Amino acid sequence: MARQAGFPSVSADDILSRPMFIRQLDTPALLVDLDVMERNLRRAAEYARAHDLRLRPHTKTHKVPELARRQLELGATGITVAKVGEAEVMLGADPPDLLVAYPIIGRSKLERLAAVARRTRVTVMLDNLHAARQLSDAAREAHVEFGVLAEVDVGLGRTGVTPGDELVEFIRGLLRLPYLSYEGIGFYPGHIRSLDNDGLNQIEELDRLLNSVIERLRREGLPPRVVSGGSTPTLYHSHRIRALTEIRPGTYIFNDRNTWLAGACKPEDCAASILVTVVSTSRPGQVIVDGGSKTFSSDRLAPSPEPSFGYVLEAPGAVFTRMNEEHGYLDARKAGVELAVGDRLRIIPNHICTAVNLHEKMYGVRGDRVEAVWEVAGRGKLQ
Ligand SMILES: Cc1ncc(COP(=O)(O)O)c(C=O)c1O
Repeated sequence: MARQAGFPSVSADDILSRPMFIRQLDTPALLVDLDVMERNLRRAAEYARAHDLRLRPHTKTHKVPELARRQLELGATGITVAKVGEAEVMLGADPPDLLVAYPIIGRSKLERLAAVARRTRVTVMLDNLHAARQLSDAAREAHVEFGVLAEVDVGLGRTGVTPGDELVEFIRGLLRLPYLSYEGIGFYPGHIRSLDNDGLNQIEELDRLLNSVIERLRREGLPPRVVSGGSTPTLYHSHRIRALTEIRPGTYIFNDRNTWLAGACKPEDCAASILVTVVSTSRPGQVIVDGGSKTFSSDRLAPSPEPSFGYVLEAPGAVFTRMNEEHGYLDARKAGVELAVGDRLRIIPNHICTAVNLHEKMYGVRGDRVEAVWEVAGRGKLQ
């Protein structure tokens, strides 16, 4: 990035009315390389088509209805969210089908979800009959029906019923509840974090585990029509998990440093970066930029103990060692370039989903040009 001269400033509202350049954006700013994003979206859509898998992307990564719309245009059959607030926002993409991959508990949330279900088909993934009964009651009161996926724990140890008798009993319980339609099973393979030998073995184990789960459910007369799984690290290995009918990757739209270090994408597949400005170089060998934990989130590198909060594109040798809320500390001793106050740098965050949640706007860029600006409408929708 070139050193910034003068103080050009343009508000986001001006953007579409006249040509705009990255150098005019104030920092910190969340940039998305439109060509890379489009390539990531197309590749996943083509992969899903080639392997006869439905693609229901998790929109918690981008939180932008316009981008969900693009995913649908490219062939996604529906979308996924975690929170009711995200579901409400994503109605803006006009999805034909919406999966809430999170158990929704409590009357006020369920009333809101029922209102969403009046506008599009809603399926909820859950793992307990308490949640299912509440969902059934909310559906009755609102005169809607919800699809349900029984969540199975396949190794992450987070949510999900343990495969075996417990799962069979749970699905029998679901079938007894009115206004819910049992569609099948869902899982999240978040324990598979990298594509090294261990990761590939875990994918094989998952294939075997799911086959045995489905065989058992068939024997019990409870065959799942939908088997919903998938994550970004496992995305392009989904065909090895033969029982899958649907995948729900989220991060793949942008990728991030964790995806790259997991071996699940190349550095050039990382579409999102955060543009920051050098604000101080008062200590020799150290550079302070105007983004800290309120800009990047504090998520560490998942597959490595290295203390690094992002990858500096213009100075790959600089190490992003520390953060305060508004300050990022770069150890610039091996930066390989001279960095001065006013320089602007792009940094790929470790975990893009939590970083996006911190930004009001997302700037779509091509080369030096800013071609789109989106409101991150789903940010902060925690309820
Ligand atoms: C239930 C569920 N499904 C899908 C995903 C998407 O996975 P990824 O972020 O690896 O693309 C997540 C991510 O947290 C998830 O929790």
